[in-house]
Amino acid sequence: MTGRMEPYRIKAVEPLPRTTRPQREAALRRVHYNLFDLRAEEVTIDLLTDSGTGALSAGQLAAAMAADESYAGSGSFHRFRDAARELTSYPHILPVHQGRAAERVLFSTLVGPGKITLSNTHFDTTRANVELTGGEARDLPCPQSRDVDGAAPFKGDIDLESLRAVLDGPEASRVALVLMTVTNNGCGGQPVSMANLTEAAAVCRRHGVPLFLDAARFAENAWLVTRREAAYRGRTPHQVAQEAFRLADGCLLSGKKDGIVHIGGFLGLRDSALARRCEPLLIATEGFPTYGGLAGRDMDMMAVGLAEALDPAYLASREHAAAHLAARARAAGVGIVEPPGLHAVYLDAGRLLGHIPAHRFPGQALACQLYLEGGIRSVELGSLYLGREDEHGEPVASAPHELVRLALPRRVYTRGHLDHVGDVLAQIAGEPGKVPGYRITEQAPVLRHFRVRLEPV
Ligand code: F0G
Repeated sequence: MTGRMEPYRIKAVEPLPRTTRPQREAALRRVHYNLFDLRAEEVTIDLLTDSGTGALSAGQLAAAMAADESYAGSGSFHRFRDAARELTSYPHILPVHQGRAAERVLFSTLVGPGKITLSNTHFDTTRANVELTGGEARDLPCPQSRDVDGAAPFKGDIDLESLRAVLDGPEASRVALVLMTVTNNGCGGQPVSMANLTEAAAVCRRHGVPLFLDAARFAENAWLVTRREAAYRGRTPHQVAQEAFRLADGCLLSGKKDGIVHIGGFLGLRDSALARRCEPLLIATEGFPTYGGLAGRDMDMMAVGLAEALDPAYLASREHAAAHLAARARAAGVGIVEPPGLHAVYLDAGRLLGHIPAHRFPGQALACQLYLEGGIRSVELGSLYLGREDEHGEPVASAPHELVRLALPRRVYTRGHLDHVGDVLAQIAGEPGKVPGYRITEQAPVLRHFRVRLEPV
């Protein structure tokens, strides 16, 4: 059997929405060129996110039927906790409704005004939850991460030199925690090596600073470690993931990615005193510690999903799917963040649409064109997401790269769907000069990409 083959067959199917070009033109105008505001029934291939969009397995649905919906102490919680403990080694498993709730509970307890969190890259909600406590979220990505075309295998690593410099310097006492995001979603979905994680853990231990994993894509990171890090070849993704969790003091885990569930997550903690400090906020805002905002069926499905996500045959087929889409993009002459990871392919819109300056949002231009030509929804990760203007609308900051993320929901789309994306990309890349830039007509002061309105110029 080859790794190209998906290790499952399809038992239930859902018709794809199909639209005409005039319908898509009208839809884009109606939502003011903000793809978050499209109705899902207007989207044919939805690559907006790999979060909560995976297909459930027969095993997960069976577990859901057998779930226990008791308010406290349900069997579902115990099965879920056993699975999470076995994977992570953390004695305290606090269920939450999704990853950002774990962020809020942990950061409200450990961070606060004057405190700093250090990370290879904070995801946007993670940064927002640090800042909401009054703390500062500081990214320390490794230098290789800045080179979009570079083939370095672990561009998700933290910059160890900068980490040591902060922890040896005058700000050390303000550092509340170090957070390693695996894989590094904010940085092209690039993996973190075990060598980097091991050294980061040693630095943290020496300075008495707790280390946490933002482990949304723990299984995909573990897989890429077995594929790219010589010392781990021949190990199973399960073994690598276990070792990664053991290096840290706890984790924030959005189950909507490698838990392959529509909703769910957990905060894992080694320290009993810290778990006791986190519990009151968990109870007040999420729920009693044996359900934390989830139904029993959600916890049972997550317990099964965490194991299914570590199946080497599944991970190999996922790697092949991303590689296939990456190859189609390259063949069309569209540059991508190299080397592709597993959960998404990041397109270099800035280079493809060189005639559109950063403040006319080449990433958003490509995302809108993918929708217009092919009914494909993606997300801009460029100057619309990261840039800023002054009060007169003059651009004052732009993103280092104008990217578009094509996220791959788990077990949802086949190679035929990805070929459609490849065909549409080739069509756009054939006449890039036809793609217009965009101007902001309305925006919110924070997280503007979710609510922004635009028009073509
Ligand atoms: N951490 C990472 C690395 C993430 O990618 C996400 C979500 C979260 C935390 C928050 O988890 O959504 O369960 O609250 N990422 C999604 C995405 C939304 O599209 O990349 P959540």
